[in-house]
Amino acid sequence: MYVMGIETSCDETAVSIIERGNKDRVICEKIKSQIPIHKKYGGIVPEIASRSHYEAISYLTKEALEEANLKIEDIDLIALTQGPGLIGSLLVGLSFAKALAYSKKIPLVMVDHIDAHIESPFITNKGIEYPLLSLVVSGGHTSIFHKKSKFESELISKTRDDAIGEVMDKVAKYFGLGYPGGPIIDKNYPKGDPKAYNFTIPRMSDGSNDLSFSGYKTAVINYGKKDGIEKNTKEFYDLCASFLNSIVKYLLKKTKNAISEINEKNIKSLSIAGGVSRNSRLREAFKEEFGKSDIILYMPEPIYCTDNGSMVAWLGYEKFKNFPEKDYFDYSSNVYSRATFRTKNNRHR
Ligand code: KG4
Ligand code: ZN
Repeated sequence: MYVMGIETSCDETAVSIIERGNKDRVICEKIKSQIPIHKKYGGIVPEIASRSHYEAISYLTKEALEEANLKIEDIDLIALTQGPGLIGSLLVGLSFAKALAYSKKIPLVMVDHIDAHIESPFITNKGIEYPLLSLVVSGGHTSIFHKKSKFESELISKTRDDAIGEVMDKVAKYFGLGYPGGPIIDKNYPKGDPKAYNFTIPRMSDGSNDLSFSGYKTAVINYGKKDGIEKNTKEFYDLCASFLNSIVKYLLKKTKNAISEINEKNIKSLSIAGGVSRNSRLREAFKEEFGKSDIILYMPEPIYCTDNGSMVAWLGYEKFKNFPEKDYFDYSSNVYSRATFRTKNNRHR
């Protein structure tokens, strides 16, 4: 069957068409990134994001259908991100998907954005076995989930303050590097000495395996102020490399803690997902650590790390197949009852 996935939760408008059933493949993925629009503000401006989704969604859908050589009548299922995300942006996707589904009598399935990220490694990896431990690292989330099966998920660790991508974006903003910061810090990593600056690994006073990143942001900015570091200098590259090196070590440590807390016999697979899982140093470090382990490591293809429609379509199909008793034609019930929205600083977690 053909599934269309629609994603508008943040600053990417994405429409994907996948084929599931006899064949399991992505036919096309159309993404309109709003990065050039938000860049000059150093972060996402919610109202501008909603308008940009509104302008893009219709033509991206048309382009996706053309590229797939399909008509809207050929689509068997529409999958949509229900949240969490920016409320105005989510509403654009919801209104569009509902109108399309209702007018063409296509079933509509809603998926959670974080669950869709966790699904992303499944797009190109067959046979990922459960139980699965998944580390989600993005602009809005930093969490570890223990999944006994696709639809049995337990949140076992989460950031208590900023998300990891958010900190990278804020650090980049401080140095005047532009938005988003993650890819810039990624690119600069090989230019610096990862041992030049020290960072204290955060510890939770209650002994929990939760995470914290706001101290990293303060530490980088303090080093920058204290030493008068300007962007694109040797000290700057050293600071970027040391910062990334330390947060990657921190994520590895937290992941290993989570594995031993659960008892590693109860985990067959490990995945990382979300925009920051595109980071070269993070991927390399996880491969070095888990490449030869009994727990098999899975990472999404780079295009499926940041927000995309294929992960939404992939999970939407799974929901549709596994819960056939649900009424996917009852469009009125597709409200945001479970969704949480970005609030302060435009972030949600
Ligand atoms: O998953 P995503 O597209 O959106 C959210 O759900 O938040 O993640 C966006 C985040 C941004 O903070 C961005 O800086 C970060 O992913 N990011 C990266 C890289 N590419 C994107 N961080 C580190 N290295 C990258 N290569
Ligand atoms: Zn995301």
